[in-house]
Amino acid sequence: MKRNGLLGAILLMTATVVVIAFIGKKEERNMAEHSFDVAEKQYRLMLDQTNDLLHYPRTSDSSGHTKYVDMSDWTGGFWPGNLWYVFEYTHDTAWKSAAIKWTESLEQNQFNTSHHDLGFMMYCSFGNAYRITHNEKYKDVLIQSAKSLITRFNPTVGCIKSWNYRKSWDGKTEWHYPVIIDNLMNLELLFFASKVTGDPIYKNIAIHHAETMMRNQIRADYSSFHVVNYDTVSGKVLNQQTCQGFADNSTWARGQAWGIYGFTMIYRETGDKQFLTTAKKMADFYMNNPNLPADKIPYWDFNVNETGYTAQWNYEPTKINYKVRDVSAAAVVSSALFELSGYLGEEGKKYKDFAISSMKTLSTSNYMATPGSNAYFLLKHSVGSFPHNAEIDVPIVYADYYYLEALLRYQKIDN
Ligand code: GLY
Repeated sequence: MKRNGLLGAILLMTATVVVIAFIGKKEERNMAEHSFDVAEKQYRLMLDQTNDLLHYPRTSDSSGHTKYVDMSDWTGGFWPGNLWYVFEYTHDTAWKSAAIKWTESLEQNQFNTSHHDLGFMMYCSFGNAYRITHNEKYKDVLIQSAKSLITRFNPTVGCIKSWNYRKSWDGKTEWHYPVIIDNLMNLELLFFASKVTGDPIYKNIAIHHAETMMRNQIRADYSSFHVVNYDTVSGKVLNQQTCQGFADNSTWARGQAWGIYGFTMIYRETGDKQFLTTAKKMADFYMNNPNLPADKIPYWDFNVNETGYTAQWNYEPTKINYKVRDVSAAAVVSSALFELSGYLGEEGKKYKDFAISSMKTLSTSNYMATPGSNAYFLLKHSVGSFPHNAEIDVPIVYADYYYLEALLRYQKIDN
């Protein structure tokens, strides 16, 4: 009798787990189905109005229309990337044709050595194109892009230079060798180039760069500096500041997101545990932060308006509401956490759950556009750069990119 009771309880528990897993899967399918359906509607409208292959949708302008940038902008690769992700989900060849056209239009960028963003521009476009089509000509473009990127590496500093010369906000500091946290994302292109050529030069530079950044860009509590400026003669750190964050000592939300995503990717490519630890602790800083709103979509900086953080830019707290969300950071973090969770065994569950919860929030009408609105982008409420008074509370193409990538990653890990 007792044994039957125990058996019954075990069967009931197993059935409950199966039902919960089934409901979870159904929710996941519904979220992906709904989001890709909205993406298809929006991007069809975008394609209908966008015939100039040398101008790439980036955000919306002040009248709510789509704003475009030319191919020298760091964001050009995300639009074809979005088209590749929609093709990957739908298998509809119309999306593939559009993705090919927009990808190939970026080809000349393979020779661009004027900034560090070749990874964003070329890996999100040609990288996805090669992964999906295996077309060898895309591989060659990616290798040349990697060659261009490493021209900006200085072995004395141990980093690729992000931007060319500029001044800090207070005008007092001149940045001759600025390296920004975003630069981690460009390293994926270099790991790819070493794999396909067999030449270790690219990945060695990527590892060297990542180790230097880990030392100088990440604080003891695993928050991050946006900009680190180096002396090219001694290789020493001269300044640790911000350009797009609230203050030099604050944590810019998207910068932290680039760090979580970047170090997770570098762990994948190297198997070196120091990068995994950094990614995990940066994620912990983000997820457990008392300034993270309950719905898990961060303000554009974790320290906006806080005492102890002094903005050097034109900050007017009596006139402007500075507390706006940055959906792009939430999308980057979600995609990163789906990958990170897979490297952490049992402990990975809390990272995956956090990502699922963020994705569910992003899929609600608070953050996702109604078809026909939002300048034909999928997600609302991102911030490009508050200090520059640029792209505040608007759609931005890379928020869509990392959100769609996160949906695909979620689908893959659950299968
Ligand atoms: N890479 C520039 C940005 O995140 O705004």
